[in-house]
Amino acid sequence: MSVILFLAFFLYCTSSALSTKDDETALLKINKQLGNPDILQSWVKGFDFCNAAEKMAFQHNWYIRCSSTGRVIDLYLQNTDFTVPFPNAICDLTELEFVGFYHSPWLYGSIPSCITQLYNLHQIVIVGTSLSGSVPSFYNHPNLTIINLSLNHLSGTIPSSFSTLPNLIQLDLSFNYLTGTIPPQLVHTSHTSYPQLVLANNSLTGELPRCYGWIDFGLIDLGNNQLSGDASFLFGKQKKSFAKIILANKEFEFDLSYVEFSDNLYGFDLSHNKIYGKVPDSFATASVLLDPNLSFNKLCGELPQGGSMGRFNAAVFANNTCLCGYPLPPCSASAPASSP
Ligand SMILES: *[C@@H]1O[C@H](CO)[C@@H](O)[C@H](O)[C@H]1NC(C)=O
Ligand SMILES: *[C@@H]1O[C@H](CO)[C@@H](O)[C@H](O)[C@H]1NC(C)=O
Ligand SMILES: *[C@@H]1O[C@H](CO)[C@@H](O)[C@H](O)[C@H]1NC(C)=O
Ligand SMILES: *[C@@H]1O[C@H](CO)[C@@H](O)[C@H](O)[C@H]1NC(C)=O
Ligand SMILES: *[C@@H]1O[C@H](CO)[C@@H](O)[C@H](O)[C@H]1NC(C)=O
Repeated sequence: MSVILFLAFFLYCTSSALSTKDDETALLKINKQLGNPDILQSWVKGFDFCNAAEKMAFQHNWYIRCSSTGRVIDLYLQNTDFTVPFPNAICDLTELEFVGFYHSPWLYGSIPSCITQLYNLHQIVIVGTSLSGSVPSFYNHPNLTIINLSLNHLSGTIPSSFSTLPNLIQLDLSFNYLTGTIPPQLVHTSHTSYPQLVLANNSLTGELPRCYGWIDFGLIDLGNNQLSGDASFLFGKQKKSFAKIILANKEFEFDLSYVEFSDNLYGFDLSHNKIYGKVPDSFATASVLLDPNLSFNKLCGELPQGGSMGRFNAAVFANNTCLCGYPLPPCSASAPASSP
């Protein structure tokens, strides 16, 4: 009996067809806007979009998933080589939860703002395109957890409206041409995973808002920008996450002597800034620390010894004002006085 029920359930689940002509119309329009490319030649009127997905998925560079009620909820396209603007008919798929566009370097134009009206969105990943213009201002989307728009040609500022996305835990806008300051509260602490904020390789300026000190980041990468000021509040003994912190910039400037490295910190890059003071003892006791980088700063004094110091080579500390002690040359009488 239960086997029959299971079979019935199985058949019911896998045989849902598109329940609305609107979704079919939207998919056909997307195909047309993409210029009817070869990889979408099966996308014709009457095509069983929901069930074809399983079989054709990745070898065809596209993937569609439907809900149990036959609405399109996931749309994924990759490695397309058509030179066309972003297909705004995507906005007609009103139940979409996942939009994925990967590595389509010829896709140009802007990301249409109608995409911010897809209120069911959980994830939007558009990476490796030539899309330009501004970052869409998502506002008040309750279920949006991931926005990844890295490796595009986006410009303008980061929308402060992202602070209204209560469940955003991963934001990646790296490798674009963004300017302006980093708005507060772009990502939030969550029960399920440690937040990730990746804004590397843009032209962001100004200071990092202090509220980010409250977040237990899994990853924060602000490298290759023109950020300045204090960022020491990102560190601290109380942090629980297995974190990686990347601040390689030019103008971050704070006293490292008072920073406490958490035992769970596994990597950081503070190279090429104006960080001063000495390397604190907690650096040597941070047991999982794997690839730190303090090179090209203004640090001085004797390095802490013991603990995990044996794992690090001189490059980690190179090109500072007057650091000394293993793995750098010993602090000699002629070297600047080491701390008492
Ligand atoms: C958000 O997700 C929850 C749980 O999956 C769902 O019940 C709710 O309808 C969703 N809300 C929106 C606006 O998509
Ligand atoms: C964003 O997407 C790219 C491409 O898939 C991936 O390499 C990157 O890790 C993603 N960002 C985050 C923060 O996961
Ligand atoms: C971003 O990276 C590219 C190459 O990866 C580099 O040419 C460009 O100058 C970088 N932009 C910024 C603002 O650092
Ligand atoms: C630290 O960063 C500098 C400059 O970016 C780089 O040259 C060096 O190889 C890095 N060192 C380590 C140990 O990662
Ligand atoms: C970095 O330090 C090394 C070793 O002391 C030195 O040879 C090199 O010239 C320095 N580089 C710069 C850019 O100062």
